[in-house]
Amino acid sequence: MSKAVALLVVLLILVVFSGECYGELRVGFYKGKCGLTDVEGVVRNVVKTWFFTKKEKSIAAALLRLQFHDCFVNGCDASILLDGDNSEKKALPNKSVRGYELIDAIKDDLEAECEGLVSCADIIAMATRDAILLSGGKWYNVETGRRDGNVSLASNVNLPPPFISVSDSIKLFASKKLTPTDMVYLLGGHTVGIAHCSLFQDRLYNFNNTGGPDPNMSKWLLFGLRMKCPRGASFDNIAPLDVRTPSFVDNSFFEQIQRGNGVLQIDQQIALDELTKGIVDGIVKDPDFYTKFGEAMVKLGRVEVLTDEQGEVRTSCRVVNKKTSSFGIFN
Ligand code: HEM
Repeated sequence: MSKAVALLVVLLILVVFSGECYGELRVGFYKGKCGLTDVEGVVRNVVKTWFFTKKEKSIAAALLRLQFHDCFVNGCDASILLDGDNSEKKALPNKSVRGYELIDAIKDDLEAECEGLVSCADIIAMATRDAILLSGGKWYNVETGRRDGNVSLASNVNLPPPFISVSDSIKLFASKKLTPTDMVYLLGGHTVGIAHCSLFQDRLYNFNNTGGPDPNMSKWLLFGLRMKCPRGASFDNIAPLDVRTPSFVDNSFFEQIQRGNGVLQIDQQIALDELTKGIVDGIVKDPDFYTKFGEAMVKLGRVEVLTDEQGEVRTSCRVVNKKTSSFGIFN
């Protein structure tokens, strides 16, 4: 083969594979990089300790939301973990995000084993998978190799509100290279966890300024939620997002939204809107739900990841290593 042909072949391979390349991401990135220590095993042990010994049974919900809120703002770069007066975690949609202490605990154990090796962004992805497994979900291989970002600004947080329309939500997910099917599977993250009354109160009493409830909410759910969230209450109560199996990662959430039992407006709408109804109906009958949910989580974990030159591996997930001028967190 002449030199020119060889060069052409190399170029062709690069072009073909570049579309499938997500920075340094791959399954087993840390294999063999921490002596005999199994990095994923260290993460799993801490998650298990919190779940079984500390009885923190809702960590799957906490971490699922944490991963979503991290990846949709500046990509999956752990920018949500950075402390600061105006960092992302201070933005309104992140006020009720939880799970920071668990990530700290995992980071401490990993730093003790292999200093400066495992990024906080990867810890989020691995720990979320492990928590999902402990809550009734199935195992999926997590890609690793992300680097941590060093910019975290509350003003960058532009997360979707619960009343976002299905078409706007599809557009938002598309901007992160996620399809409508990915979006619907990922909203299945609402199979666990809770929502505050203030985020769906309008659906109970004054939907779209009609003076009445959302006609798409089942009478049964309306009754239950009105008990939990009385009009004019002085406290902001909580209600489970999956009304049947609130602590289990399963596809019952999708059955419930088919019956008018979606708590958030967007959850209810994906079961009704022509753009997504077929996807929801398919998921309810899909025996392979867990595999597809895992695949969607892997795709979420690929959103705008930082590569070697752009990011760093923080030694504490709450502070950046190097102080450069681009640190929004101090603004
Ligand atoms: C259009 C997209 C989405 C919207 C509008 C949305 C909105 C919300 C809202 C309003 C809450 C309640 C927060 C509170 O009351 O404190 C919530 C909770 C939650 N969300 Fe989403 N969400 C979306 C997508 C996702 C995705 C993609 C995931 C995960 C893959 C996810 C996982 C969760 C979880 C697990 C909770 C419960 C958190 C807890 O119990 O602490 N959400 N979401």
